[in-house]
Amino acid sequence: MEKHTADTTDAKLYERDVVLSVASLPEDLAEYFRVRAEVFVEEQGLFTGSDEDEHDAGGVHIIAKAHGCVVGVVRCYRHKGNVWYGGRLAVRKEYRTGVNIGAMLVRKAVEVMIARGNVRRFLAAVQLQNVRFFQRIGWARLGRPFMMRGRKHQIMENKLARGSNDCHRQAS
Ligand SMILES: CC(C)(COP(=O)(O)OP(=O)(O)OC[C@H]1O[C@@H](n2cnc3c(N)ncnc32)[C@H](O)[C@@H]1OP(=O)(O)O)[C@@H](O)C(=O)NCCC(=O)NCCS
Repeated sequence: MEKHTADTTDAKLYERDVVLSVASLPEDLAEYFRVRAEVFVEEQGLFTGSDEDEHDAGGVHIIAKAHGCVVGVVRCYRHKGNVWYGGRLAVRKEYRTGVNIGAMLVRKAVEVMIARGNVRRFLAAVQLQNVRFFQRIGWARLGRPFMMRGRKHQIMENKLARGSNDCHRQAS
């Protein structure tokens, strides 16, 4: 059954209303950075002032739009050689759990990595409370948790296997 939000938005939101793309228009990119700031600076306090860094210039910035607004974001960037990282995954608070936007964004990031044709590994440093979320959508832990920006993180990997990244759960 297709999922939707509760009464937190003007209209119910369904997965089919969510459009995923690599942001290229200046207004989409501006909103993309606004969502990141909302979540990582204001909500989580992981950064002061701005969460932008050296990986943004060459990064791939993915947005989820619904009803004309950016409702979630994720970033991919090349770490070394053909090893890429995903990160800055964020869904606006009022759109979380219920629509599947986070899982859809991660799946889109995996698709973009596969489409590049030369990405050998795709990793992410995941906040510990989100490890289960990533495991349920096909990611595996790599090594042990470590501290970053005052929070426990876990490196996780997606094997970039076509067909194994359904946004619905793998074995729970
Ligand atoms: C983590 C985050 C991106 C998840 O996005 P979301 O849109 O709320 O998640 P989804 O709706 O796609 O979740 C898919 C499933 O995973 C579950 N889920 C969501 N967050 C979870 C978590 N932290 N742990 C375990 N399961 C989780 C959902 O309940 C849903 O399960 P269901 O299908 O049984 O209902 C979102 O909560 C967020 O933006 N958090 C703040 C920023 C953040 O922590 N970013 C990640 C940094 S690593």
